[in-house]
Amino acid sequence: MAGETKQTLESLPGVGEVIAQKLREAGYRMIESLAVATVAELREAAEIGEGQAKKIISAAREAAEVGLFVTADKVLERREKIGLITTGSAQLDDLLGGGVETQAITEVFGEFGSGKTQIAHQLCVNVQLPPEQKGLGAKAIYIDTENTFRPERIRDMAIGMALDPVKVLHNIYYIRSYNTDQQLLIPEKAEKIVEEEDVRLIVVDSLTSHFRAEFTGRGMLADRQQKLNRHLMTLHRIADLHDLAVFVTNQVLARPDIFFGDPTRPIGGHVVAHSATTRVYLRKSKSPKRIARIFDSPNLPEREAVFTITEQGIRD
Ligand SMILES: Nc1ncnc2c1ncn2[C@@H]1O[C@H](COP(=O)(O)OP(=O)(O)O)[C@@H](O)[C@H]1O
Ligand SMILES: [Mg+2]
Repeated sequence: MAGETKQTLESLPGVGEVIAQKLREAGYRMIESLAVATVAELREAAEIGEGQAKKIISAAREAAEVGLFVTADKVLERREKIGLITTGSAQLDDLLGGGVETQAITEVFGEFGSGKTQIAHQLCVNVQLPPEQKGLGAKAIYIDTENTFRPERIRDMAIGMALDPVKVLHNIYYIRSYNTDQQLLIPEKAEKIVEEEDVRLIVVDSLTSHFRAEFTGRGMLADRQQKLNRHLMTLHRIADLHDLAVFVTNQVLARPDIFFGDPTRPIGGHVVAHSATTRVYLRKSKSPKRIARIFDSPNLPEREAVFTITEQGIRD
């Protein structure tokens, strides 16, 4: 549970009014965002030197890392607020312990065509359902790295749920991410929308494709993992702070020869493994069936569920 530091940016040494303003404009509105920024990012955002950027980051880390103690009854109160979004399949919901949870990151990984993007689309529709239909009556944000978002598909799925497709489309904020630099900055932008609108779902489809493409050699692994970790920390903080669900996809390569490492494991290794609250492995079965399995969960049993991808969306 991330405790938000209530200190202002100006309270940090080296941050005056002018710099604070520039930082806010660049999306650094909280001490926590500065704590996870890189020196290069801050230099550019605030037009400052390396020494000053370093000083600000370390001061922010000190202020942010302390966090705030809360009593356990508050923790319980917060956990009782956890919302669940139906996937459209009762079997799959059951596997997930009722649906996709808020205050958590849910990761689905699997081969191309296993249904990751279809579930992501369906959740953007289903989060808008009223609670009695296992939705949260709220909006969604879709971060698309692979150019596979299809509004037509949202329309079909909305009709499949007896919702007004025009309204449903209007309640999804869409952004394309073209590289890892952009991807790392998008959550902060998304947070601005979250602060103003009732958003309870953020999709990142896919979490890892740009990281995979940009950090290719073994020598770049540490850098990649560090950036991915930072990205996930930001997403976690937003999920906790704003009681929303983060749903990320991760492709497993069918051709292991073009990538190093264990081919049966999703990319991101232990960084993603430790950050995702729930991990689901998807595989294709006889079309249109798909099989989902819970992977490495601390609190859910290792079971499997079968669901189908239909014209109307995800179903049992
Ligand atoms: N309109 C549709 N009706 C039925 N099935 C569909 C439809 N659109 C896509 N699908 C199914 O979804 C699959 C693609 O799944 P997708 O979620 O894009 O995979 P990935 O895991 O690569 O993101 C297709 O192969 C097809 O089986
Ligand atoms: Mg996809």
